Amino acid sequence: MVYVIRELRALDIFALDRMYASLSKRSKLFLHLGYLGFDSVGVSWFQMHAAILLSSIKVVRKSMKRLFPLSVLFSLVIVSEKGTIIGFSFVKLKGRFERGGWWGELVMGLRDDHHRKGLGSKLVGASINQARSEDVKEIFLTVLKINVGAVRFYGNHGFKMKHTAKDRVRWRGKEYDNVEMWLDTTIPNPRYDCPKQAQAMFIKEKKQD
Ligand SMILES: CC(C)(COP(=O)(O)OP(=O)(O)OC[C@H]1O[C@@H](n2cnc3c(N)ncnc32)[C@H](O)[C@@H]1OP(=O)(O)O)[C@@H](O)C(=O)NCCC(=O)NCCS
Repeated sequence: MVYVIRELRALDIFALDRMYASLSKRSKLFLHLGYLGFDSVGVSWFQMHAAILLSSIKVVRKSMKRLFPLSVLFSLVIVSEKGTIIGFSFVKLKGRFERGGWWGELVMGLRDDHHRKGLGSKLVGASINQARSEDVKEIFLTVLKINVGAVRFYGNHGFKMKHTAKDRVRWRGKEYDNVEMWLDTTIPNPRYDCPKQAQAMFIKEKKQD
């Protein structure tokens, strides 16, 4: 099976909601996004959809980066041969360093039936490369402490744990501890140092034993 990683297009947006809606309860808890899926429709759903949609148009994104940088997202999707969205990643700009360059927050997820086949690794590499090309010097993310697989996954890709249980996340009436992890994108990493990787990448699914 061949998959393609490419930038999200405006027309992908509802397929992305469908993909998120199809995730297991556990993956939704791990992602706990209040702005994807049709059961989250509300003010923040509309705001984020507008930001995702406008950011998906390169020329608009360029102007937004100058005028409203904190609304800018760099979004990638991983798509199967049939054109189905298997996973997505967002790097949302969060601030600008005085020394120049940006920091942003990464969120990503794959369909449950596509975990642990190496696809997440390709997607995180592509997201980091794309962010780098947009002068994002540091990327942070938060993961639930109980999501030990994802903590290991991001650790494998150079993210360092900064705080544990910094914030408590409330999701569907329960509270969870969060772990914050940071990546300095200026440090070379042979796992994803590959120019032009972000735009289009064709990868073969790892054969299951
Ligand atoms: C986290 C996620 C993006 C990883 O993508 P993936 O395609 O499954 O990961 P890869 O196959 O590229 O890498 C697998 C490696 O990461 C680590 N890993 C990933 N998931 C793991 C799990 N559930 N348990 C233990 N280790 C795990 C392991 O080191 C694993 O290597 P191994 O399979 O040889 O043991 C994906 O599992 C996912 O979408 N999870 C649900 C949503 C989520 O948790 N998102 C992160 C919150 S921001």
